[in-house]
Amino acid sequence: MTWHAGSCIGRRMRHHRSMNWSPFTDEAMADPASGHQYLLDTCPVHCCDGFDPPFFTLSRYEDVQTALRDIETYSSHFGQGPRFTEPAGMLCDPPQHTFYRKILQSWFTPKAVEALREPVTRLTHELVDGILSGPGEFDAHDDFAFPLPVTIIADLLGVPKSDLEQFKHWSDIQVAAMGSAKPEQYLPIQQEFMAYMHSHLMQRRKQIADGVSVPEDLLTLLAGARTEEGEFTPEPDSLSVLNQLLVGGNETTTSLVTNLIWRLLEVPERWQMIVDDPSLIRSAIEESLRYDPPVLGLYRNTTREVRLHGEVIPSGSKVFINYAAANRDASVYPNPDEFDVTRNPQRHMSFGLGVHFCLGAPTARLETEIALSVLRERMPELRLLGAGERIAPFFLWGRRKLPVSWKR
Ligand code: HEM
Repeated sequence: MTWHAGSCIGRRMRHHRSMNWSPFTDEAMADPASGHQYLLDTCPVHCCDGFDPPFFTLSRYEDVQTALRDIETYSSHFGQGPRFTEPAGMLCDPPQHTFYRKILQSWFTPKAVEALREPVTRLTHELVDGILSGPGEFDAHDDFAFPLPVTIIADLLGVPKSDLEQFKHWSDIQVAAMGSAKPEQYLPIQQEFMAYMHSHLMQRRKQIADGVSVPEDLLTLLAGARTEEGEFTPEPDSLSVLNQLLVGGNETTTSLVTNLIWRLLEVPERWQMIVDDPSLIRSAIEESLRYDPPVLGLYRNTTREVRLHGEVIPSGSKVFINYAAANRDASVYPNPDEFDVTRNPQRHMSFGLGVHFCLGAPTARLETEIALSVLRERMPELRLLGAGERIAPFFLWGRRKLPVSWKR
């Protein structure tokens, strides 16, 4: 990492021993929670001035809640990432955001999500069949948590199965570019992906216009969407939405599954609790989301000067909304640094809040519930062989390697 540390900008806090905290230090990268109590107790408005552009971080539960609800002040208009981007698709404020969200809504109703139970269960069993026919040791990311959501989202979008590996690679590149110090290095691959999606979109539009029968998938939905004036929606917006679905529906769910397996196996008694009592599965999933959010936080853009806790955030600033720290706020969660499978935490921030609340939350929960149910049933002897490695982007949290064994 080439970025420098940031600081707590207030006079009162200037000499605090931890004033060099930043999300880019080796310590914070290895364990993002290492800085949470400092941010919550001492530095609720942090400025990371070593990044270009510099950004502020809000961490307390109440501040995170207020920022996510106050979309007039904390706008999404210039993107959810650390850099300013052009508004497109749903990466913006209402009314455009509402327009695209409404188009997608019918695919994410409880009934639509429940219809995924059967294909998700089938796929999960197929993956486990493959693992059980192997030597005993496997990688919980490569062999299990990665193929599950990517196959499901590719299917929903209508991308051919033969392109899955390529598709996953593109998704990783999009996320890597968002968090990188040198995002331009990823441009050629991003353009390759856009060209791929664009050709699928155009082909589907032509089929719709020609009256040819088309599959019922999200590509058809977006290709056929029209503005109030009856025109097809602008291509950059449709591509942005497709892209967001690809990225949103993919690595995040993989990370939820890997993080959950990791924490359960880290303390074998926790895993045994799940093996003995499957009614704990839902609570364990919510606790994993609270404790290890796959998205540690996302950005907003201030439309006016904000004064908070004695600090000033200028208008036009990037603000990192730190869901992960808010989830460890002791004023909401007693013993916040304890992973408790029986806690069943409500109102954690890991899917965001307000108008941008994650559209895919029920899908992610369903996939993870099935994944864990099948694992405990078919691999009760599962054990951890190491902590593996974290995924690279600083604002995401999951394991890209997680060695495990299903044999004692
Ligand atoms: C554990 C898995 C997941 C996590 C942690 C997660 C996290 C999030 C978060 C934090 C947001 C809020 C963005 C913001 O406030 O700016 C969001 C939005 C979104 N997510 Fe997810 N997500 C997950 C799974 C999914 C899945 C499976 C899908 C699709 C199938 C999906 C699609 C979306 C979409 C479309 C939005 C944008 C909603 C809007 O702006 O109105 N997500 N997600």
